[in-house]
Amino acid sequence: MNMYNLPLIGVVGSGIMGNGIAQVFAMNGYKVVLVDVTEAALNNAKQSMEKSLEKLAKKQNDIQVDEILNRVEFTTDKMHLQNADLVIEAITENIEVKKALFKELDQLCEQKTILASNTSSLLISEIAVVTNRRDRVCGLHFFNPVPVMNLVEITGTDETSDETLAKAEDFVSSINKESIRVNDTPLFVVNRLLVPLICEAISLVDEGTASPEDVDKGMMLGANHPIGPLRLADMVGLDTMLHIQEALYNKTQDSKYRVPDLLREMVAAGELGRKSGKGFYQYT
Ligand code: 3HC
Repeated sequence: MNMYNLPLIGVVGSGIMGNGIAQVFAMNGYKVVLVDVTEAALNNAKQSMEKSLEKLAKKQNDIQVDEILNRVEFTTDKMHLQNADLVIEAITENIEVKKALFKELDQLCEQKTILASNTSSLLISEIAVVTNRRDRVCGLHFFNPVPVMNLVEITGTDETSDETLAKAEDFVSSINKESIRVNDTPLFVVNRLLVPLICEAISLVDEGTASPEDVDKGMMLGANHPIGPLRLADMVGLDTMLHIQEALYNKTQDSKYRVPDLLREMVAAGELGRKSGKGFYQYT
């Protein structure tokens, strides 16, 4: 517990997802420790969090930007996670790097700490295996942009305890988000449906069936999607899309999940979507 009498939350990785996760916990009164490896990454994270909070403050007058930012400690020192009640990992989607982090967290965090991963493409059981607290490891998968999207997928392995899953559900509802429980299977529910859809949209462009604008317009007006699949791919990042679809294909070996050539070509050319200034659309 901390001075607010609420559990302490740790987040590791201050990229788009980690930053958003830290923000929503801080917005809901929690003290948050946000860890990354460089000060530069943390400074960027702080700036994006401030921007997002300012956007929200224009609509909701109970949002005090400075007060919320002050609840977040931006640090490169993992030791500050020691007495957290929940630590959520949102680092690079590399199994070896994640395993090394979970091993370290398992050693440095108190017994009570629940360790969660925001992974979008790996199995929780693959990560939990390196810890001595497999009953207290679960998946908490958030959606981009985290401050706006209402869902969190909660994943338990065969070894995750019911108590951990119940606590995870309580954490999610305490930040005013909804959860669904999902078994530990490749891509869980939402990405399993969404990422192949986006890849099919990319194939349509690659085959010359329609322009990116028309594919997106089709899904917005024909299926009531808030934005089209190609603009969404640009928003999430084409490198992330490639990584997730590749993980699904590798795990299932099912040809229906093949990676479109155009996606590989764009990533190889550094066209990663919004973050690089160019993807299916231009952002500069
Ligand atoms: N912080 C705060 N507010 C934000 C925000 C952020 N990061 N991003 C957008 N908003 C707000 C805007 O201020 C705006 O508010 P207003 O309506 O009051 O003006 C509102 O959201 C809408 O934003 P925009 O007008 O800029 O653009 P859109 O109308 O296109 O809405 C969107 C943006 C809410 C992101 C909408 O496009 C959307 O719902 N898209 C689908 C998102 C989605 O499917 N996400 C899942 C991706 S998959 C994933 O994350 C899984 C991972 O594993 C890959």
